[in-house]
Amino acid sequence: MMETVAAFKRDVHSYAEPERVRISHVHLELGVNFPQHVLEGSATLRIASPVNSREELVLDTRDLAIHRIEVSKDGESYCEAPFTMGRSDKLLGAPLTVTIPRGASDVRVHYSTQPQASGLQWLEPAETGGKLHPFLLTQSQAIHARSWIPLQDTPGVRVTFSARIRTPAPLKAVMGAQSHDAAADGLYGFWMDLPIPSYLFALAVGDIEFVSLGARTGVYAEPGLIAVAAHEFEDTELMIRAAERLYGPYRWGRHDLLVLPPSFPFGGMENPCVTFLTPTLIAGDKSLNTLVAHELAHSWSGNLVTAATWGDFWLNEGFTTYIERRIQEELYGAERARMEDVLALDWLENELARLAPRDQVLHINLEGRDPDENSTRIPYVKGALFLRSLELEFGRPLFDAFLSRYFDHFAFQSVTTEQFLKYLNSHLLDLHPALASRIPLQEWIDAPGLPKAAPRAASSAFERVERAASDWLQNKIALDEIAGRKWSTHEWLRFLDVLPDKLGLERMTALDRAFNFTHTRNSEVLYRWLLMAIRNEYETAYPSLDHFLSSVGRRKFVKPLYEELMRTRTGRERAECLYRKYRATYHPITRGTIDELLGTCDPKTGDTE
Ligand code: BES
Ligand code: ZN
Repeated sequence: MMETVAAFKRDVHSYAEPERVRISHVHLELGVNFPQHVLEGSATLRIASPVNSREELVLDTRDLAIHRIEVSKDGESYCEAPFTMGRSDKLLGAPLTVTIPRGASDVRVHYSTQPQASGLQWLEPAETGGKLHPFLLTQSQAIHARSWIPLQDTPGVRVTFSARIRTPAPLKAVMGAQSHDAAADGLYGFWMDLPIPSYLFALAVGDIEFVSLGARTGVYAEPGLIAVAAHEFEDTELMIRAAERLYGPYRWGRHDLLVLPPSFPFGGMENPCVTFLTPTLIAGDKSLNTLVAHELAHSWSGNLVTAATWGDFWLNEGFTTYIERRIQEELYGAERARMEDVLALDWLENELARLAPRDQVLHINLEGRDPDENSTRIPYVKGALFLRSLELEFGRPLFDAFLSRYFDHFAFQSVTTEQFLKYLNSHLLDLHPALASRIPLQEWIDAPGLPKAAPRAASSAFERVERAASDWLQNKIALDEIAGRKWSTHEWLRFLDVLPDKLGLERMTALDRAFNFTHTRNSEVLYRWLLMAIRNEYETAYPSLDHFLSSVGRRKFVKPLYEELMRTRTGRERAECLYRKYRATYHPITRGTIDELLGTCDPKTGDTE
């Protein structure tokens, strides 16, 4: 028997009332208006079950202009429906309440988006790789779908969808959908017959090309990037096979990758069938492709079995981080996976040291807060460590079988932390009480910090790196000797991570002379080096810092760099000057974060975002 889904757990980040009326399909008809930065058209929402009396359908919106709403009882003839728009809340947007008659089957909302829509980023040609055409990209997670589609914007509701998107020639539209077609006149059709939560709605429009990598994989990118991107991500099919061996069939048909312009605010976004990726992953040597494994893993944890509310977010990201590591291990061996464990644990511990206790728990209360605030390492790394501790305690055969069954059992449903725990108890812990007694379950889920029993990863390669760093600091070895060791990217990352914050100009100069970090093509190495440059006022790297902040909008990099600059008086001036220059080119999500950091006012509204 199917367990009841989390349908009725209240999502504090949505106005929708799916327990009254629930939508099951969305059909979009949208035109992309680049000059005005607007999407305009309609969304037709199918109602899941018969409405037996006059009802109210409550939708989430944020900054949408609603022109007209119609309702139908047969999906063919429509008549005008009354609606009211509630007061707009800064965090949640505004509820749109439509009165629908008994027997209503479809509701059609005619609307347009606003240029400041939080889920849309409109790039000028100069902000793209090709410099010739504009680009549009969406980012719906966590609660931004409502800024470009009026819908029940909660991960507890799933819908199928279809769409017709009109784009100006010669631009191409890509959506996270199972199938698509294109007409010569710039009209693109998309279909998704598997039910998805609203945060997975995704669209990109630009000068986009496609190359195939394999029978079900391929890469979309701007023409100038397509060849290097295809090479960088050529292991994608191997990753899918590894994940399938572990957790059962990949259920979404194709798995393509879309490499976006560098202002994309995240490393990756697991949009169904088409993962969105930052180009900063392209290092030339596949060393940063962990992130492809991560977004792929969401095809099980997140897209197939979905956290029902943002407070359950760890069910998406903790599971995914765990699975990502398992895929890495299958492809590149245990040593690489353990290196990633160590880097991640280090990062988690740094974060634990500065986060308030209430923000250190897996099952977090986000009432009244922006779910984007929970994008710390806690749901990711602490969540993955919890699963790793179960794996170590129960052994891989038992634990892998448990996870596969969990994905099967809850496939295409949304689950709460409580439901997961219930399932964990009945399908694993209760069957092995002696082993289960060693797992401090409640502590993992609800307590701050890390349980004492948390597994501690170790990597012998990293131990050698740490020794080399300390030997160099004590002048026992020269940098030439380190250069001879042919370290992997991960070893270099560890090396930079263990060097002291204040290294001094002499050592910074020596390192740069030996390894040319200021000009490295690897974004993770460069990011760490630029942080060190700011801390040590190593001015040689400042042009590179300026260039990085002018082109990259990935929040994980941009935020700590501005933060580090803000720690000194001269740095603060530099931060303000750089941000004045580049603010307009950042994604609204990145902009919101940096505005807060610098106390910047939005020049248009006067609001600090
Ligand atoms: N789903 C997330 C991105 C996300 C989370 C967007 C919350 C908005 C709100 C994606 O899968 C992710 O975790 N991306 C990470 C990469 C990962 C390897 C840590 C990122 O973008 O840094
Ligand atoms: Zn993720």
